[in-house]
Amino acid sequence: MCGIVGYIGTQQAAPLLLEGLARLEHRGYDSAGVAVLGSGGLKVAKRAGRVRDLADGLPKRFGGKIGIGHTRWATHGPANDANAHPHTDEAARVAVVHNGIIDNAAALRAELADDGIVLASDTDTEVLAHLIARSGAATLEQRIAEALGRVEGTYGIAVAHADFPDRLVVARNGSPLIIGVGDREMHVASDLAALVRYTTTVAHLDDGEMATITAGGFTTYSLGRLEATGRTELMATDRRAKEVDIDPAAYDAGDHDSFMHKELLEQPARAEAVLRGRLDDRFGTGHLGGLNLDARELRGIRRVKILGCGSAYYVGQMGASLLEELARIPADAEPASEFRYRNPIVEHDTLYVAVSQSGETIDTLLAVQEVQRKGGRVIGLVNVVGSAIARQVDGGIYLHAGPEVAVASTKALTNMFLAFAMLAVQLGRVRDLSIADGRRLIAGLTRIPEQVDQVLATEAELAVVAKRLAEAENLFFVGRVRGFPVAREGAQKFKEISYRHAEAYQTSELKHGPLALISPEVPTVAIVPDDELVERNVAALHEIAARGGPLVVVTHAGVDLGDLERPGGGVVGRIDVPRNERELDPILLTIPLQVLAYHAALELGHDIDKPRNLAKSVTVE
Ligand code: G6P
Repeated sequence: MCGIVGYIGTQQAAPLLLEGLARLEHRGYDSAGVAVLGSGGLKVAKRAGRVRDLADGLPKRFGGKIGIGHTRWATHGPANDANAHPHTDEAARVAVVHNGIIDNAAALRAELADDGIVLASDTDTEVLAHLIARSGAATLEQRIAEALGRVEGTYGIAVAHADFPDRLVVARNGSPLIIGVGDREMHVASDLAALVRYTTTVAHLDDGEMATITAGGFTTYSLGRLEATGRTELMATDRRAKEVDIDPAAYDAGDHDSFMHKELLEQPARAEAVLRGRLDDRFGTGHLGGLNLDARELRGIRRVKILGCGSAYYVGQMGASLLEELARIPADAEPASEFRYRNPIVEHDTLYVAVSQSGETIDTLLAVQEVQRKGGRVIGLVNVVGSAIARQVDGGIYLHAGPEVAVASTKALTNMFLAFAMLAVQLGRVRDLSIADGRRLIAGLTRIPEQVDQVLATEAELAVVAKRLAEAENLFFVGRVRGFPVAREGAQKFKEISYRHAEAYQTSELKHGPLALISPEVPTVAIVPDDELVERNVAALHEIAARGGPLVVVTHAGVDLGDLERPGGGVVGRIDVPRNERELDPILLTIPLQVLAYHAALELGHDIDKPRNLAKSVTVE
């Protein structure tokens, strides 16, 4: 959430900053701004709207070979020009861009106002610019350290100062900051996406670390607080840049109209990647090396608690049901955003699983820390290597989905499910799951990539159904047991990008309330796998059809919907997904729902990758 870029080198900074910001826009896209330091001093341009609006309105003379930029997701104050970053002091000598939240901003703002400073924005970030400007310390680094010493909260910041025109200073506490090393030039970004076009030699700052960046290199320090004096001290650290193995094309949408479409179609290949080397057919088990748990520890697990937000929470519910069915361990998922506020009971024989594509979601990170504070053990299902959650957990499973840019998660979610399935098989096999069942599931998992491809091959037919659904203002998504989290994720995806009101319900609960809302204007997408519940599910469909509710049924070939499929019978769309093992049904039932959401949003003309009010990774509480 919020994107930061910086540049120092031999080229004009502004075009490079704007290019970098465009690549970070999925992290926040309500306003943007840049500041450059050139012969005429510090110049700032910022405005509400997208990066392209900023680029269009940039003054002709905006020269400078040092600069910082920001794309924002509003927290403190609305998305207007004044609240856009960079923020400066009154004399406009220091410019700051910031990602994160300053918790004591209100107190600091009041203190500054009492001293006669006129604050130009409603933001928490602006206080940093004033605090740095007011510091009397000799070096820029000391001034920033002093300012940061006053601040409580999280930050990734980049600072340019007119009195120190040979450097940028960056610091991190909770929000990512990466330095990219070029040839007589250096880049800064909060996400690799903005760097990989220029360099793959990068250094990730740690929490509590600061760096001075000049055109020729960088030096790092840790921000230590001296207990005796309360002053912040800088101690040199030895951080070196390393090569990252990333294909810059992974950050381009290529021929696709959106990243979401590209990422949807990447799923078969990415699913193979998460399974590769992790399936042991001989013993019918998973082979997850990163868990850092031996067989004895695995056997000692009495309960599993899964924590995640948004789609990661819904796939966590799918994971919980896999764990209960295959490993017979009581498991449940809970929104990470709620967890730590109810003083959770943390038990030593519970395995906590944090699920996050970005590895940055602050609610999930704080939930992990809460568990660890109370002595619990947490593993992570994380996509972004080296991200905050990946570093915080005690072990885990990387998802290998590749960079996911669209806000609506597709390929990462699919790989989360597959990671849960492997974990459930592995936990099951040190308990009651038979070798035959283990092998059955391993074989099923092996078939998934090809079957995902088969579903995606029906995109044109799904687009027709999506068009029909896009007409409705309100929709239900219903499913039971394994199918219920599928319905929840389907509704989430649909509402995120189509802005239609999509509500998920257990099919069994319809008659206890929501049936009152069923009418010819309210379609229901029903998840009806060919499992133990198929007859009951079909009976519920009749109840909906009898009230005139149109039905889209996501099911398996051979499931007999009888009269419902006759003209006027209720079914307006039928989607058959390939059969696999029943336990693995949820992911194959989910794929068409992703495609439906995508095509509904396309039909409605929405910005698919950047749905209103949302951001890809939410790094504030
Ligand atoms: C945001 C996104 C959701 C995503 C959730 C969790 O709310 O808009 O699409 O599911 O964060 O993200 P994570 O990176 O932790 O999986």
